[in-house]
Amino acid sequence: MEYERKYAWSPLLRFYHWAFALSIVFLSVSGFFIHFPWSNTNLEGSQTYYMSEWRYIHFSAGFVFMCALVARIYLLIFGNKQEKLLDFIPVTPKNIVNFFKTIMYYGYIKDKTEHRTGHNTFAGLFYVVVFILAILQCLSGLFLLYPEGSLWTGIGYSIFSAQQDARHVHYLIMWGFFVFILSHIYIVIWNDIKEPEGLISSMFNGYKFFEKER
Ligand code: HEM
Ligand code: HEM
Repeated sequence: MEYERKYAWSPLLRFYHWAFALSIVFLSVSGFFIHFPWSNTNLEGSQTYYMSEWRYIHFSAGFVFMCALVARIYLLIFGNKQEKLLDFIPVTPKNIVNFFKTIMYYGYIKDKTEHRTGHNTFAGLFYVVVFILAILQCLSGLFLLYPEGSLWTGIGYSIFSAQQDARHVHYLIMWGFFVFILSHIYIVIWNDIKEPEGLISSMFNGYKFFEKER
């Protein structure tokens, strides 16, 4: 069988993806420490500075996360065809058909699915949910970071109400990310094994492979 290579993902998209994925690891570990410190924090500020150090890691990774998100929002509007929002959300007739075909394929009801240079629209819907959660995570994080008299204070109060509520939402969204990440990694590996399109490597080199007749 002969295959042809199709360019799918720009360098910026790939860079954003790995910056986003890696920063979430640092944010979650440091976030767990902030939520439930496992060191003796009575010594904080005299002999140890664990909490300050973990918070520093959290905020540094937080800014990487926010930059990655801004890059993705830019690509939703100005990216290549596959990277634009309308290409991967199930709102047009073609995309709605792809949505149901993908569900049948993932559910082992159909053996074949439609191959797309970009995301299938079932995955796309979940990516949009992730973007919305990421925006809320940034807004609640900035509200917690700048609690008084900043732009984020006003926005924070109007969306989350009290600071403690923002903190609660911030914590719960982390668990939302965990659910996404587990299913995401499972599905990309499953897809990579079933179809010879080189899905995972496309997030490194930007290319996918398709049978030539198609
Ligand atoms: C996926 C991304 C993120 C995850 C998983 C995450 C996770 C967490 C968790 C679990 C906490 C502890 C909350 C609690 O005490 O219950 C926390 C606190 C916090 N996060 Fe995040 N966070 C993320 C992104 C951000 C971003 C983008 C910022 C913005 C700079 C940020 C700023 C903060 C601040 C200021 C706190 C409170 C620190 C404190 O009270 O000492 N976070 N985060
Ligand atoms: C080893 C871990 C990971 C691998 C191998 C991986 C691989 C991939 C691949 C192959 C795609 C494209 C799939 C498609 O076409 O539908 C993708 C997309 C995506 N991944 Fe991952 N991923 C990993 C971890 C993560 C993590 C931790 C996150 C964080 C939430 C994440 C968030 C996303 C998002 C949001 C997209 C959509 C890309 C876009 O914005 O267009 N990934 N990933």
